[in-house]
Amino acid sequence: MSPAMAIVNNQSKSKSKSKANDGGDDDHVIMESQYQKGVKHLCENGIKKVPRKYILPDSDRPNNADKQQPLLHAAAAPNIKLPIIDFSELQGPNRAQVLKSLASACEEYGFFQVVNHGITNDVISNMIDVCTRFFDLPFEERSKYMSSDMTAPVRYGTSFNQNKDSVFCWRDFLKLMCNPESLPHWPSSPTDLRRLAATYAKETKYLFMEIVEAILESLGVWGATTMNNNKTEEDDGDSDDDDEILKQFEDGSQLMVVNYYPACPEPDLTLGMPPHSDYGFLTLLLQDHVQGLQIQHKDKWVTVQPIPNSFVVNVGDHLEIFSNGRYKSVLHRVLVNSAKSRISVASLHALPMESTVRPSPALIDKANPRRYKDTDFSSFLNYISSCEPKRKNFLESRKLI
Ligand code: OGA
Ligand code: NI
Repeated sequence: MSPAMAIVNNQSKSKSKSKANDGGDDDHVIMESQYQKGVKHLCENGIKKVPRKYILPDSDRPNNADKQQPLLHAAAAPNIKLPIIDFSELQGPNRAQVLKSLASACEEYGFFQVVNHGITNDVISNMIDVCTRFFDLPFEERSKYMSSDMTAPVRYGTSFNQNKDSVFCWRDFLKLMCNPESLPHWPSSPTDLRRLAATYAKETKYLFMEIVEAILESLGVWGATTMNNNKTEEDDGDSDDDDEILKQFEDGSQLMVVNYYPACPEPDLTLGMPPHSDYGFLTLLLQDHVQGLQIQHKDKWVTVQPIPNSFVVNVGDHLEIFSNGRYKSVLHRVLVNSAKSRISVASLHALPMESTVRPSPALIDKANPRRYKDTDFSSFLNYISSCEPKRKNFLESRKLI
């Protein structure tokens, strides 16, 4: 065990100071640099307790955050079966019925699970497998991709925002931008990562496009002019406009975030990810068989029961804005556990970086005035570089009423 790790284990700052009075500040710096290397690295050095850096204040801990369930242990939080959308049904004669379920899922939960989506079990298990092998690589190999540049094509890191978070969360990540120019920068080890992750990215993009079509239809803006401001009474069913919208999504950005949550010796003191909503239009999340994702539903935290080979899909901030508040981007967070590590792959889809997101004109009228300001990627970047991202603050900052 390295000296720095010995200090990490010794949670009392005052003890480490008194032990090495003149070296105390140096020790602190060494500890900080250890935390920057991530939780997997920390765990590989054999810790028995959660270091102070990861311990949340009482009110933010998994068991205490929900004032209405003060005594309920996180592991005993009610499980929820999210509304299930059978993708194959969406393509058949029951489409209208499925679209109704989709609309109510987006209104009431902001989340749904997609089954029978057509992405093969092989593509899915290959992705989970190659990502697991990436996190199994020695730290030196993983750390080649560490970067604080938000626009880097590949980024390995830890916590939520490791340059800003005062308390770190129990998560390491690999972020992969999915535009063609980024692919050659993806990790070269494991040697099959690029191939398997590129296949997975392509198939999730296709699925995203199909879901977007269904979402636009469920909002009643499909077949009506939506993105530009020149809607007239006769505009219903203009297929050129529909093609234009789909083209914008086709050209949109895709970011894959592989989350790795090591088993945690004291899971009640910390979180894998703090409460947040997702930036972007939709997120398609693949989780392994270990549960951990919780969503806020009717003011309570509820655990999402994983369904093998399904996708958890959630409304992002952009869709809330685009739908003028009809569909909600809902707060979610991740619990960790002491028995098993967990891996998930979030595929975040948004319009092109340079485009502006605004409420669809088709969804604004006297009874439903415009609720959000125009927003673009640079206003988001300015926002997160100026403060610690928390909860739905960014979306709050875009609200008009
Ligand atoms: C995310 C996210 C949930 C999970 O990556 O934004 O919310 O279960 N992930 O890992
Ligand atoms: Ni999320």
